Amino acid sequence: MQTIETYQKIFLEYLEQFVEDKEPKNLYQPISYILKLGGKRFRPVLTLITTEIFDADYKKALNAALAIEVFHNFSLLHDDIMDAAPLRRGKKTVHEKWNLNTGILSGDTMLIMAYQLFENYEANTFQSLAKLFSKTALQVCEGQQNDIDFETRNDVTIIEYLTMIEYKTAVLIAAAMQMGAIVANTSKVEQNSIYEFGKNLGIAFQLQDDYLDVFGNPEAFGKQVGGDIIENKKTYLFLKTLEFSNEDEKLQLQNLFSIQSENNADKIEKVKQLFISSGSDEATKNAIEDYTQKAFSVLETLNIKEERKIILRQFGEYLMNRKV
Ligand code: IPE
Ligand code: IPE
Ligand code: MG
Ligand code: MG
Ligand code: MG
Repeated sequence: MQTIETYQKIFLEYLEQFVEDKEPKNLYQPISYILKLGGKRFRPVLTLITTEIFDADYKKALNAALAIEVFHNFSLLHDDIMDAAPLRRGKKTVHEKWNLNTGILSGDTMLIMAYQLFENYEANTFQSLAKLFSKTALQVCEGQQNDIDFETRNDVTIIEYLTMIEYKTAVLIAAAMQMGAIVANTSKVEQNSIYEFGKNLGIAFQLQDDYLDVFGNPEAFGKQVGGDIIENKKTYLFLKTLEFSNEDEKLQLQNLFSIQSENNADKIEKVKQLFISSGSDEATKNAIEDYTQKAFSVLETLNIKEERKIILRQFGEYLMNRKV
């Protein structure tokens, strides 16, 4: 096994040789722009690590890892259009730098490129990977639609929120890991366990993303801080604030979220204060910790060496403590 940084470096080299500026430029340049913009690359690294954890060579998993990262970046391209986001990884989003049509078509192209990468596998592995990928990609779309629908609903429950983030975010992380297990030819039982580990880690990851969207450092975070508040996103922070508030505060928050505000800075500040005074910020941190621990307890069911479990635990801790 290598260190996390080494897998990251290996993956980046593989990504670099994949990205080409072909014609038409207006289709492929935005693709290389988003793919080279940076990002943590933790999903493909999880694919590579999982393959090695199950005693196979990570090199076999490079194309699956790349498919996951290309799909993830496709989903960001379209997500930034849907969320009207100006910034991604500290730079202009594709639809801002180019235009909306470019964002749509370059995104579609990336989705196809991701699928195409599975053609590098022999028939049985190809089928398993493609099946998992199709199921996962549909779930991501379902989660994304719910996320948008929730913006204009005022009766969203915590359960609905948790299902929404499981679909839009966690299943891709789970699938990234299961793909590593598929490439390594592990049993279905082990595949399911590693999927469950990834899913719980993924739920913690999205809770943390929502937390950082409000409380992150604007310079480090690379996205517009407060973007979820501007868009009236029904996050865990929002839902727990409603739960913990008295009638007055509840009305205040609901009012703030019923309008597209003229003054976003003022709206963000007021909502942020309610998130803090209600104790919802602490509740969110606890939920992040809980889902991370849940992931760790799934690890106990896995039939792998203890030192390999330690690597996965380190990974969970790194995600929980991240600032980006
Ligand atoms: C952002 O994912 C989208 C979410 C699911 C929250 P990341 O935080 O992994 O984005 P990058 O790839 O590191 O920029
Ligand atoms: C993104 O959720 C989930 C997907 C891209 C599928 P967010 O909308 O919270 O992601 P960020 O915060 O823009 O990265
Ligand atoms: Mg977004
Ligand atoms: Mg979104
Ligand atoms: Mg977010």
